[in-house]
Amino acid sequence: MLNLTFYGHACFLIDDGKYKVLVDPYITGNPLAKVDAKKLSPDFILLTHGHGDHLGDTLDIAKRCKALVISNYELATFCASKGVENTAGLHIGGGAEFPFGTLKLTIAHHGSTQGEKLAYGGNPVGFIIRIDGKVIYHSGDTGLFMDMKLIGELDEIDIALLPIGGYFTMDVSDAAKAVEFLKPKKVIPMHYDTFDLIKADPMEFAKRVEPLGVECVILQPGEYYKLV
Ligand code: NI
Ligand code: MN
Repeated sequence: MLNLTFYGHACFLIDDGKYKVLVDPYITGNPLAKVDAKKLSPDFILLTHGHGDHLGDTLDIAKRCKALVISNYELATFCASKGVENTAGLHIGGGAEFPFGTLKLTIAHHGSTQGEKLAYGGNPVGFIIRIDGKVIYHSGDTGLFMDMKLIGELDEIDIALLPIGGYFTMDVSDAAKAVEFLKPKKVIPMHYDTFDLIKADPMEFAKRVEPLGVECVILQPGEYYKLV
């Protein structure tokens, strides 16, 4: 059984009982986060891109836990240059097997700078995560794109994690269209309400996707969902 904990914004912990995979750990500085970053002990950290609200606490957590940081090549190299011992730099369309399962990097339409100097952080990505017999799609920050149809065609997605906050990413209406393209069994909205700029109504999103036969799971920061 898979346990998916939402730590707010785009941060999820995927736990299959053996391995803990943390995505985009933006905890410190997140006004809605309910957890202390020091309490998290992932084996793997996946980064969709280098913006501060995704890179977040990665460097501290990775160094403390000796977690393997997996990202695009540029961002993985950046983390290594900051003292992270274990990094894997993959790239869009590529993937690899890891102890927890397989990972594939998808496109995402967004920017990606890294660190305080806003240096180039490579292309932003999304992830197809195959773990414990399930397929999870974390889109990262992205606008709506037509290739989501292809992503939905290549894998039967059990659960999609999609931004709905608008301004920097898809809004509720575009995210509902994304669900139509991806055809996941379930969807969890993310990347909303953290800041005033990205206020959105997850209930409105739920209303739009449920007629498509897709269950919308709304999680508050700190809540988890058991994917069976
Ligand atoms: Ni971003
Ligand atoms: Mn973001």
